[in-house]
Amino acid sequence: MSDVEKRLHQVYGAASPSELSQTYDEWAASYDEDMLQTGYAHPAIICGLLSRYVTDLAAHVLDAGVGTGSVGQLLHTLGFSNLHGLDMSEGMLAKARARGIYRGLHRGVLGAALDFNSATFAAIVSTGTFTTGHAPAAAFTELARILRPGGHLIFTVGEMLWRAGGFGAAVEKLVAHGVLLPVWQSPPYHPMPHSKTESHFTTLALVYQRA
Ligand SMILES: C[S@@+](CC[C@H](N)C(=O)[O-])C[C@H]1O[C@@H](n2cnc3c(N)ncnc32)[C@H](O)[C@@H]1O
Repeated sequence: MSDVEKRLHQVYGAASPSELSQTYDEWAASYDEDMLQTGYAHPAIICGLLSRYVTDLAAHVLDAGVGTGSVGQLLHTLGFSNLHGLDMSEGMLAKARARGIYRGLHRGVLGAALDFNSATFAAIVSTGTFTTGHAPAAAFTELARILRPGGHLIFTVGEMLWRAGGFGAAVEKLVAHGVLLPVWQSPPYHPMPHSKTESHFTTLALVYQRA
């Protein structure tokens, strides 16, 4: 198993949030290089979607599960000037901070209460974070709360996990309650096509709008 496959195995199998956070702290130094080897597709797809739905480059955009900031780096290049990030791992946040492109970076846990006022962000993006042993489906309620009316929630989730992980049910409940409106869903795609162990894995990218 290569280093990246070992790391992926570790994070998917983490026994607790603190073990997960510690593993990402340790992985932060080589995460970007490792994920490039897998052909990591999420950042390009999510940046394309944000650019499709959000034309105001001054919009305040939160990356939930910002990691080392690979998505933010692309958004910065595309001209987005009010980027914010949230993550549970201080090691990953430190790498994001070193890019010098964020207006704010926050330590926080998706699934718990978030330390932001309601209706703060014009858009929220999230890649690779709604997955096995990571952010729970319950996190969508808080993300919807901190999104402005009309704001976009753009995220990825494993195709199998959308149902089996309860993510679809949680989001559809918010739709049924008139909180979110469905906007767009991608066909399944391979987020890590060059990974030896994960190349079969398929993901969806989804777009919702705050009512
Ligand atoms: C696979 S990485 C993705 C990072 C970045 N979005 C990317 O695409 O490169 C998952 C990130 O989510 C963070 N994370 C996982 N579960 C979380 C949670 N419940 N709350 C906050 N951050 C979480 C991890 O610390 C890690 O930085």
